[in-house]
Amino acid sequence: MQTTTQYNFDTVTDRRGTHALKVDALRARYGAADLIPLWVADMDFETPPFIADALRARLEHPILGYTQTPQGYWSAIIRWLEEAHGWQVKQEWLSYIPGVVTGIGLALNVFTEAGDKVIIQPPVYHPFRLVPEANGRTIAYNPLRLANDRYEMDFEQLEQLIDDKCKLLILSNPHNPGGVVWRRETLQRLADVCARHRLTVIADEIHADMALYGNRHIPYASVSEAAAQGSITFNAPSKTFNIAGLKSSFAVVPNAELRARFYSWLRANEVSEPTILATIATEAAYTHGREWLRQMLAYVEGNIAYVEQFLASHLPAIRVMRPQASFLVWLDCRGLGLGHAALVDLFVNRAKLALNDGEMFGSGGEGFMRLNVGTPRSTLERAMEQLKEGIKNDVAATIK
Ligand SMILES: Cc1ncc(COP(=O)(O)O)c(C=O)c1O
Repeated sequence: MQTTTQYNFDTVTDRRGTHALKVDALRARYGAADLIPLWVADMDFETPPFIADALRARLEHPILGYTQTPQGYWSAIIRWLEEAHGWQVKQEWLSYIPGVVTGIGLALNVFTEAGDKVIIQPPVYHPFRLVPEANGRTIAYNPLRLANDRYEMDFEQLEQLIDDKCKLLILSNPHNPGGVVWRRETLQRLADVCARHRLTVIADEIHADMALYGNRHIPYASVSEAAAQGSITFNAPSKTFNIAGLKSSFAVVPNAELRARFYSWLRANEVSEPTILATIATEAAYTHGREWLRQMLAYVEGNIAYVEQFLASHLPAIRVMRPQASFLVWLDCRGLGLGHAALVDLFVNRAKLALNDGEMFGSGGEGFMRLNVGTPRSTLERAMEQLKEGIKNDVAATIK
């Protein structure tokens, strides 16, 4: 009889001194090192053993020279996309890219010129704004609408917004920070609008594997021919399996013309060749990772339930927008009645917690905080107690 490995997500691992951004950058980013780090989107769970073992096995060999990309790398990606998401992709559609944010920057440089407009849907992952702006592109905003505690796309505003200068729309699917698993009808409608206006969609699907509570991620490019032909999808095992430091992302481009432009540029500049460790980790993750992922997501659901219950009992002025995917929880703190500076002061200086403040994600994020629950339960318990104490002692919080 086969036994199922039980993975342990309760272990608290000291990450200090490893140059971990989440921990070792606290002083530089938040002004204090003694905060519980619940911000940047990596998890405090140890690298899954089947990935660490595969990397270790390769490191047993004493030479780490130039390396060809193994066929098994491509086959593992293709199999994973089919089995996890029902999306059949061809190998020629794929390319390695050194990071999803890097991929967005590269695509911007290939498909747009200075002064062109890029549409984003705030509140949204802040590099969607930062990268185009740093490249001299203009951002056009199609803010999400909050209806019944859920975000939805505003298609009327989108139609009014689009002009000749708009070339790209960057989609977060599932949505970070709102945790939305976009429905098929929404994605189809978006594809129709973008096809009509000749807009290419960059679909950032880095959180795709982590749908929660029975939700199912739908790859944007799979919803219609218009979506497939007008899109570049970026994905990676990095969030799912907590290996962000390895730079293991990839692109999927079904359209031959877009592919020729994008991939020839990547090849010309030699940015499409994976590092040894990225291919090994990706292949191991996508070949052996199903059960680990199932258990990790169950643990994250437990963490979300814990936060929901704690806040409902002790701090009802903070409301949880339960994510449909991933380990990032969007906390609606507007009930505390604090302005931006006071809210940040409460979390950082009084509760000693490092979260991402909602303003960072653009309009609609004011009064929200993003909590990373990809961490052992005991860490989260400490964090919630500190938040409770911090609020109790904060005279500025006039809880409504
Ligand atoms: C939506 C989204 N895209 C991209 C990234 C970063 O991806 P990469 O490390 O591959 O650049 C993140 C990380 O938080 C993210 O949430």
